[in-house]
Amino acid sequence: MKGCMKIIKSISEMQSFSRKARSSGDAIGFVPTMGYLHEGHMSLAREARAKNAKTVISIFVNPAQFGPSEDFAAYPRDMEGDLEKCESARVDAVFVPDVREMYPEGFSTHVDVVAATDVMEGIRRPGHFRGVATVVLKLFNIVMPARAYFGRKDYQQTVVIRRMARDLNLDAEVVVMPTVREPDGLAMSSRNAYLSGPERAAAPVIYRALLEAEKLYGGGERSAAALALGVRKVLGEEPMIETEYAEVSDTETLAPLKQVTAGAVLAVAARIGKTRLIDNILL
Ligand code: PAF
Repeated sequence: MKGCMKIIKSISEMQSFSRKARSSGDAIGFVPTMGYLHEGHMSLAREARAKNAKTVISIFVNPAQFGPSEDFAAYPRDMEGDLEKCESARVDAVFVPDVREMYPEGFSTHVDVVAATDVMEGIRRPGHFRGVATVVLKLFNIVMPARAYFGRKDYQQTVVIRRMARDLNLDAEVVVMPTVREPDGLAMSSRNAYLSGPERAAAPVIYRALLEAEKLYGGGERSAAALALGVRKVLGEEPMIETEYAEVSDTETLAPLKQVTAGAVLAVAARIGKTRLIDNILL
């Protein structure tokens, strides 16, 4: 039914929506996003809708998770298009606070997840996970979800959020869903919008590189260095790509591995022109 979706800007209104739902016994499935919604986000929304009585999406480009030289101002935004997508997905409420609402004058509390943030994105983007954990905790307190849905493309983010949820006894189940890919393998990401035509044509090499590691692993290779080298070799064949890292880590702690004995995550960050993309596969 069209026209039933609530667009909520204030924290107090969002909390009263959520309290009302919870007091009627309606579980809330929550998809936190920074907008510029794509099929990856919509797959999370569908799962939220399938498993919960109410579905809430938040759209908030969180300044706290961007470094001073990162792309906060340029981050793609399309509120009108996003709301249409939410409406078609029959989302019950979209929470769209502004920065002042989320971080009023005097705001001075942060969440630092210590484990799993001293590797990969954590060292290349100082302060990023502090910003993510802080906003996600705030959003959980505002939306009060029974379940919250995150994409596996941001693997380290899912580890950090799970850790925070466990450590702080959050009353929400953190659900991680598979990465959604374009037909050519490129992981869906709002940042793909930055890519020029030739860059977009080059970008699927990231997934091909991960598949190469999967092939090596399937063939019996267990050395993390050899698997990472396999990824770097394929990425190196594409002149537009600059590899930042290719790391094989423990799926739970993200500690770097030497040998893959009981599964691992192979995560990659690469730059194509000015765009920084990340992706990963589970081995
Ligand atoms: O994954 C994202 O889009 C963001 O990091 C999140 C979880 C919405 C927090 O701002």
